[in-house]
Amino acid sequence: MKVNKAEFIISAVRPDQYPEDALPEIALAGRSNVGKSSLINRMISRKNLARTSSTPGKTQHLNYYRINDDLYFVDVPGYGYAKVSKTLRAVWGKMIEDYLLSRGPLKLVIQVIDLRHPPSKDDILMYDWLKANGLPVCVVATKADKIPKSRWQKHIKIVRQDLLMRGDDPFIMFSAEEGIGKDELWEVISRYAGE
Ligand code: GTP
Ligand code: MG
Repeated sequence: MKVNKAEFIISAVRPDQYPEDALPEIALAGRSNVGKSSLINRMISRKNLARTSSTPGKTQHLNYYRINDDLYFVDVPGYGYAKVSKTLRAVWGKMIEDYLLSRGPLKLVIQVIDLRHPPSKDDILMYDWLKANGLPVCVVATKADKIPKSRWQKHIKIVRQDLLMRGDDPFIMFSAEEGIGKDELWEVISRYAGE
């Protein structure tokens, strides 16, 4: 997809602030500091529209970015920063759980994982929870630039196995740094946003 326009719309703290134009929404979920905001910036070829930081916990609200009047990226606060807990609600907050469970225009959750490490307990909990609730998920393994290409397959296998991914969920290698996977991810997004 060619991005002609990308604008920050709102940092929502309450559901009544969510946009009402019913454009498809693509949410970014993932551990704090994994690279969700950087992924958005790479997808829209902007350096810092989505605020990034080397300090975990930068994104605190649901941040809406409208792309071309076609769809929204919704940057969601990272989980696993405060504390590892048993329930998603405790890890991540009720507002986010409610958003994911009941937001009509939500078409796809991009779950971002760090390719360098095996999925964390929270990554596994999150993926299970998304699947159990019937949400469409695309797993994106980012920071691929940090791993030599010769070792990609080994890392991909670990991520897929630990998450118990089924064959039909999209899985994409990505690097916000180098742009790896950008076109492939746009294809997946367009497919889900169009439905
Ligand atoms: P929170 O908003 O705190 O949940 O973090 P986030 O998931 O939005 O992470 P963010 O995009 O702010 O990136 C965190 C750090 O990882 C920054 O220092 C980025 O520069 C770095 N980073 C993100 N993506 C990549 C990547 O693909 N490759 C490399 N090498 N570094 C990356
Ligand atoms: Mg962020």
